[in-house]
Amino acid sequence: MTNEATATDSADTHNLPNAPDVVQIEVGLLQNFCEILACSDTREAAVLDPAWEVDRLLREARALGLRITQVLITHGHHDHVEGIAEMVQHTGASIVVNAREIDRVRDALKGSAVEGAHIKTVADRELVTIGRRGLRALETPGHTVGGTCFLADGYVVTGDVLFVGGCGRTDFPGGDTAQLWRSLQRLAALPEETRVYPGHNYGSTPTSTMGRELLENPYLRCASFEEFRALRERKRKA
Ligand SMILES: [Fe+2]
Repeated sequence: MTNEATATDSADTHNLPNAPDVVQIEVGLLQNFCEILACSDTREAAVLDPAWEVDRLLREARALGLRITQVLITHGHHDHVEGIAEMVQHTGASIVVNAREIDRVRDALKGSAVEGAHIKTVADRELVTIGRRGLRALETPGHTVGGTCFLADGYVVTGDVLFVGGCGRTDFPGGDTAQLWRSLQRLAALPEETRVYPGHNYGSTPTSTMGRELLENPYLRCASFEEFRALRERKRKA
C-alpha cells in the first residue's frame, strides 16, 4: 500500500456523518437492487437508482412513514434510471448524480412530465445530506465514465462497480478496465467491516462486507492490474 493510497483511504472515511438507515429492495427481472436511505429523525429519505417497480418503492416508503426528497443515481445505465421520471413525478424529489452521468439521466426524463426537472451534480467526496444523516459520493469510474458509489459510516452502495463475488463489466461505451481497477482498489481500502450494497443481486448473498470480498471476490484477489485485466476481459457479466 503506498502512502498515497493510505491518504486516499482516510480522506474517504474522514468525518462521515451519521449514516442513513438503509432498506434494500430487489426489483425487476435483471435482479436490480434499489435502496431507500432514510433519516429516522426527520423521516426524509432518498431512493437510490429507482427502476422497474417504482410503485413498490413508493409503497415501501409510505409504509415506513418516509417522505422521499431525493433520488440518488450511481450511473446512467437504463436498468438503474428507467424509473426516475415516475419517481420524481410522484414525489417532487430532486435528482443527484455525477456530472459525467447527467446526459443519461436527461435521456431518462425525456418526454415525461418532469423533463425539465432540476438535476444536482455531485462531485467526488461531496457529502449528500438526508435529513440529519449523510453519505459521501465516491467517483468510481470504469464501468461507466462517472459511476459513483455512496459511502456511509458503516456501509457503501456500490452500483455496478462492485458486486458480491464480482464487479462491473467494462466493455460498454465509457467502460475502462484500468479505471475500474483503480476504483476497486479505492473501495478495497475501506474498513473491512464496511457493508457492501451492490447494484444487482448476482452473488451468493444480497450484501457482503469489504473484508469478505477481499477474501472471496476473485476480482479483488488479483495481485496486479494485468491479472485483473485478463480476468475482467475474459468474463462478461453485468
Ligand atoms: Fe450498469
